[in-house]
Amino acid sequence: MPLQRKKMEAIEVTNLQKTFKTKGKKIKALDGMSFAVKRGELCGFLGPNGAGKSTTLKVLMDLIKPDKGEAKILGIDSKNCLARLKVGFMPENPQYPDTLTGYELLMLSASIFNIPKKQAQKKAWDLLQAFELKNAAKVPIRTYSKGMIQRIGFASVLIHDPELLILDEPLSGLDPLGRVMFKKKMKELNKEGKTIFFSSHIIPDIEDVCSKVIIVNKGNVVKTLDKNQIKYFSTVGFNVIINSYIDSLCPKKIGDNLYAVYCKKENLISCLDVIRSNRGEIIDIEPVKKSLEEVFVQITQNFI
Ligand SMILES: Nc1ncnc2c1ncn2[C@@H]1O[C@H](COP(=O)(O)OP(=O)(O)O)[C@@H](O)[C@H]1O
Ligand SMILES: [Mg+2]
Repeated sequence: MPLQRKKMEAIEVTNLQKTFKTKGKKIKALDGMSFAVKRGELCGFLGPNGAGKSTTLKVLMDLIKPDKGEAKILGIDSKNCLARLKVGFMPENPQYPDTLTGYELLMLSASIFNIPKKQAQKKAWDLLQAFELKNAAKVPIRTYSKGMIQRIGFASVLIHDPELLILDEPLSGLDPLGRVMFKKKMKELNKEGKTIFFSSHIIPDIEDVCSKVIIVNKGNVVKTLDKNQIKYFSTVGFNVIINSYIDSLCPKKIGDNLYAVYCKKENLISCLDVIRSNRGEIIDIEPVKKSLEEVFVQITQNFI
């Protein structure tokens, strides 16, 4: 039923157009951007620099007016401030009043959402603990490292327990441990029922956590992939493991009576035929994957 389907959408973006005019030059940032994110999804927004990701997210947060098109959050037009009551938004490079301490920032965020003081204090300390910032709670944010600023930024968008998180490049500037922590947090929050939509240009991060990926370039959607499709797209060939040496396949010895034959995806059947006709036994077939980076380049190149 169409009504029920509509209810499922956490984000709906329809034909967004935006051209920036600076010093007489026109830059088309959005060129018909349209997509939807369903409630409960952990969705990546993937694209190279300048693809229009931040502009789209700013339209969703009503920080930028599009020239054309519309955006809805949780079924409400993004121009209506009620749309953002249950949303946590983390901008690309968060700028916080740097005299504030981490704890004060969380309490300030809580006051914006009218959270009662006692409840806010408890939530703030829980978040400081969860983001390993307890020791820095009473220290001014200006003394924080980039990773700590990202962590306090993430904590501050969770203070009002939002239904939907919109995060612009949340993993950028984090060290490897920070990345692991953020990805774990995103997975946990998604499991608790929160919808998460986050932008990134780093494919392995998206692959690690996302149930869906919207790939964009030049202000438009290039492709939408679900998790299985990403896996399917990234297989380039197979390592077929056999138990005997077959001359015509020039296999690589990998152990006692174990040989590996590499074949391209499109040659798998003929490779198996050769093995069978030589009475070779197939021990295993392992997919060989190209990096998602290469997949992305290929997809976008088709559309240039
Ligand atoms: N305020 C602005 N003024 C002029 N050009 C802008 C502005 N914001 C973004 N752009 C341009 O719009 C394009 C899309 O930018 P952006 O949405 O930030 O891309 P992304 O987040 O995918 O890197 C880029 O070419 C960028 O330079
Ligand atoms: Mg950006």
